[in-house]
Amino acid sequence: MTAATIYPEIAQVTEHYRLPDNQFLIRLRVPECAARVQPGNFIHLSCSSDRYALKRPFSVLRANPSAGTIDILYKTVGTGTGALSQVNVGDQLHSLGPIGNAFKLSSDKSLPLLLGGGVGIPPIVFFAEVLHAQREVSPMVLMGSEIAFPFATHSTEKTLPGIPSSSCAVMTELDTLGVHTRLCSKQGYAGFYAGYIHQLAACWVQQLTAEQRAQVEVFACGPEPMLRAVAQFSQQYELACQLSLEEYMACAVGGCAGCTVKITDASGTAHMKRVCVDGPIFDASSVY
Ligand SMILES: Cc1cc2nc3c(=O)[nH]c(=O)nc-3n(C[C@H](O)[C@H](O)[C@H](O)COP(=O)(O)OP(=O)(O)OC[C@H]3O[C@@H](n4cnc5c(N)ncnc54)[C@H](O)[C@@H]3O)c2cc1C
Ligand code: FES
Repeated sequence: MTAATIYPEIAQVTEHYRLPDNQFLIRLRVPECAARVQPGNFIHLSCSSDRYALKRPFSVLRANPSAGTIDILYKTVGTGTGALSQVNVGDQLHSLGPIGNAFKLSSDKSLPLLLGGGVGIPPIVFFAEVLHAQREVSPMVLMGSEIAFPFATHSTEKTLPGIPSSSCAVMTELDTLGVHTRLCSKQGYAGFYAGYIHQLAACWVQQLTAEQRAQVEVFACGPEPMLRAVAQFSQQYELACQLSLEEYMACAVGGCAGCTVKITDASGTAHMKRVCVDGPIFDASSVY
């Protein structure tokens, strides 16, 4: 996990479109951020052009350093995201970022297992694409959504060890790259595994040998109940695990202590850590 420098920038909206179930994809021109952002980092973004508008934290889905742009996928849940959904291409917002630490595969691990749920999917997709581009390891990417999956999907006939053949829905963009993906939901979407993401992950992990399991490192981002279940799953199978936490954030630069969580170090000593600048990614064993 590495810390990033925070840059204030005017964020020009270059694309903004609605996806199903009140999800939106917004592209922002923020060259400093785009040049530096790593998977797991987030930005603190004003939700209107008013420079005094309250900012909200959003993970980065993808960066294009040569175009100077980043993409954010968000769902409207309240005042801030509701206001953001009203901004137009050409509007200028205020961005701080990249903020926080990043997902990083440990040097002694070779089987990254990436788990993304709901609005935790964006940094997982970003990390999968970066790991794939490095071509050193091939991640297994499992994603869960209880609303319409925000990206194009299709059914595959390719099977994966341990994964039920009925769980054949994949994210098209990652599958086209050759990255293994599977999707889950309890909403009965065709080809989705009908259960929780850690249950689907267990299907895959159970068929690994002890040597292979020792190579697995889990990376997860999603709602709190999912993270708690993923932490328990990782503990059960003795897997290394990094979790990206969500907390309400006021300043997002480490100044207000409004986002602190209790983290327990290896000796059992508890520390208060700021999710914005000490995280958002923490070792699962230190959180739960
Ligand atoms: C590091 C980080 C990365 C994030 N990345 C994304 C992302 O990529 N896409 C995305 O859609 N959202 C993301 N979020 C969540 C997003 O910041 C909140 O949805 C947003 O702040 C809500 O603001 P609001 O004014 O619309 O809603 P509010 O009116 O503030 O809240 C409405 C409801 O949203 C929920 N909520 C608000 N903030 C949070 C939060 N931080 N965590 C959990 N629940 C919350 C509460 O249940 C509340 O009832 C991220 C949050 C963090 C901390
Ligand atoms: S939000 Fe202010 S310290 Fe994290």
